[in-house]
Amino acid sequence: MKRHNALIPLSHDHHHGLLLSQLLKKDAPKYKGLPDSTQGKIDYLDSAYKTELIPHFKNEEEILFPFVRGKDANLDALIDEVLEQHIRIEQLYAQVKTSGDKILAMNDFALLLDQHIRLEEREVLPLIQELFDDQLEELNGKIVAVKSDDACET
Ligand SMILES: [Fe+2]
Ligand SMILES: [Fe+2]
Repeated sequence: MKRHNALIPLSHDHHHGLLLSQLLKKDAPKYKGLPDSTQGKIDYLDSAYKTELIPHFKNEEEILFPFVRGKDANLDALIDEVLEQHIRIEQLYAQVKTSGDKILAMNDFALLLDQHIRLEEREVLPLIQELFDDQLEELNGKIVAVKSDDACET
């Protein structure tokens, strides 16, 4: 299903989120132009968390989800699930700071982020498009991708 215009910025962010997740997995290969050391990855995660993930979650929590909530029980249940994942992702991010095993902590974070993005891309956004088709026009331009990147086609 082609992503609705109003939701394209979120899918754009998801693309970057999946790349972040790949980088942080414990068996990750080297990615050109991205950090390879454990500390380099922690710093990269720190920056991406603050400048990309927090504003992305905010767009979902404060703009998209309130707009679509309360009209469909299945969608509401899915939204509850992804909101719980946001909290869990935040906890796993905090755990990277405190954990004695940074590689494992980053891997745990990466696995959940991956699962979370796939749930939103495969189930949440398609259901929102199905249920709110025309009304999504109202959100056009209100959600802005958190990272500008013209080379990214999502
Ligand atoms: Fe999310
Ligand atoms: Fe998302």
